[in-house]
Amino acid sequence: MQPPLGHWVLPPFSLLPVIQGGTVGTPWAASFFFFMRDRKLIIMPSLRFPHSSFRLAITGTPGTGKSQLARFLNSKMGFGMIEEKALIRKHGIGVWDSTQKEYEVDVSALKKVLQREIRNITKQTVIVGHLLCEIRLPVNGIIILTCSPTLLEKRLRKRNYSDLKIQENLFCEEEKYCEKKVRAHYRGIPVRVTPTNRAKKVICEEIINWIQSIKFNGGNKK
Ligand SMILES: Nc1ncnc2c1ncn2[C@@H]1O[C@H](COP(=O)(O)OP(=O)(O)O)[C@@H](O)[C@H]1O
Ligand SMILES: [Mg+2]
Repeated sequence: MQPPLGHWVLPPFSLLPVIQGGTVGTPWAASFFFFMRDRKLIIMPSLRFPHSSFRLAITGTPGTGKSQLARFLNSKMGFGMIEEKALIRKHGIGVWDSTQKEYEVDVSALKKVLQREIRNITKQTVIVGHLLCEIRLPVNGIIILTCSPTLLEKRLRKRNYSDLKIQENLFCEEEKYCEKKVRAHYRGIPVRVTPTNRAKKVICEEIINWIQSIKFNGGNKK
């Protein structure tokens, strides 16, 4: 859906293609959101959410592309980043399972830590982790990344995951485990399911448009 104030499209000129996206403006007054599409600079007014309050969660089965998308939003769009894995290590709320090569996490402790981190957010921020689907966090939107089983298996094999761990993750993906959990926990919050077996550029553009639709229209809360 188009934002009510519309957007302005500026023709490309020599220096602009180096800009890949970002935001400018003050925390509460009118600010502008810009990114490149088809070699044109798209500028959209960004009024509804102040930069300081916009919080986006990204979840999905391991290997679906959460870190890659979060890094894009962080480096190109100026989002702050809160990583579940880093917090688990920092606060010692997981027990390392050396056979499965993963943390067994106390989810309620993780929720408390994340809520505290989110309370201290001072700029638009992305919160990323596969356990976010297990809890409800105060966010403005949540993205569930998905992937075809064949591609997911390839990605997980590259990580040298055990056969058992790969099978478990493929099962979760096929059963839409994360999506079901998110739909149960995040009622009333815009949810976006995004397949990542597509070009990174297409995915990022889709997400940017969706973020804008939340900022302007509140997004689809189904
Ligand atoms: N859209 C995409 N196109 C191609 N490769 C991708 C895409 N998204 C993720 N990947 C690749 O898949 C692998 C897993 O991505 P990653 O972001 O680490 O997943 P997660 O954080 O969900 O575990 C990485 O090698 C990453 O480069
Ligand atoms: Mg990751």
